[in-house]
Amino acid sequence: MINILENISLKRYNTFGIDAKARYFIKVHSIDDIFDLLQTKQFQENRRIILGGGSNLLFRSDFQGLVILVEIKGVHFEGSTKSNTILKVASGENWTDFVELCVKNRLYGLENLVSIPGKVGAAPVQNIGAYGVEQKDYLHKVEYIDSTTGNIEVVDKDECKFEYRSSVFKGNLEGKAIITNVYYELSREWKPNINYKDIKQELDKFSFVKPDAEYVLNTVKRIRKRKLPDPLDIGNAGSFFKNPVVDESQFLTLKEKYPDIPYFLSNDKYKIPAAYLIEKCGWKGRSVGNCGVYDKHSLILVNYGNASGEEIYQLSENIRQSVQEQFGILLEREVIVVE
Ligand code: EPU
Repeated sequence: MINILENISLKRYNTFGIDAKARYFIKVHSIDDIFDLLQTKQFQENRRIILGGGSNLLFRSDFQGLVILVEIKGVHFEGSTKSNTILKVASGENWTDFVELCVKNRLYGLENLVSIPGKVGAAPVQNIGAYGVEQKDYLHKVEYIDSTTGNIEVVDKDECKFEYRSSVFKGNLEGKAIITNVYYELSREWKPNINYKDIKQELDKFSFVKPDAEYVLNTVKRIRKRKLPDPLDIGNAGSFFKNPVVDESQFLTLKEKYPDIPYFLSNDKYKIPAAYLIEKCGWKGRSVGNCGVYDKHSLILVNYGNASGEEIYQLSENIRQSVQEQFGILLEREVIVVE
């Protein structure tokens, strides 16, 4: 039996720690729970959002609809090829626990993505990535329930239309798909992916060690701990903005004015760290009321305790405006704003 609750505080369900309320709230523990939910009038008559770890969204105010928290659990062997193993992972599994489980069982590929907060079901939605790896590099397929038809559907990797922090789940399937299982194809042989600047620098400090997957996993954990705030200590949702991508002529104009501007080349375009732009505008470490910009990384907005979603939203708008004025670039939010 499913149990739909009313007027529930979402404070413990979002990593920003915003004390917004949900008009209706339900935890689903199985695919059958979801089928039951589809029949209810609370589901049919309300706006809905699906929550995993609540680590990539900002509640701007109370949510007058239905919040669905997916708690389906389990990791199962699905099959293998000559050198790879396919695992079926339930969407309610914790992402970092899953990455660690893989490495412990000598299944490799995802180790650079350890310590990203959130659940497995959210990973394909925004195609999480860090330190030169994106989850799409190891994704096999995604199973979801289409809430408009009630059918279980499967999309393969190509159909997921993965891009930088985007996928079909933020496009055509937005608001329709309730992800139930994600399939990853991991390698049984470890191929290091350690060229990202931060990882290289950290490994070079202990150059006598020959790194293995577990060592890289722990290195990434250490780097993240140093640079990114733990939501259990300070409310935040990781990178608040996406890194903007500009073409060559715009980049060269910027480079003339800001010779130290960092960039990554991707498909003949220039991806510029939003953190650099925000820092140059003087925001790093600044606090405004109950919120602010983290002092160790300017891409992270933080809640010092009692910030409202609206306060953080306003801060983000002010940051966008100053970056737009100084650099002519309009930052796009990575975090999803729920109104
Ligand atoms: N930088 C600054 N000021 C800062 C921080 C960084 O100028 O305060 C500049 C530095 O030049 C630095 C560059 O920005 O070399 C890149 O910084 P970092 O390596 O920390 O990466 P990022 O571009 O800021 C992206 C992802 C992160 C991911 C890291 C590592 C996005 C929006 N963010 O951040 O993902 O962990 O790379 O791969 O693409 C997330 O999405 O929530 C997230 C944390």
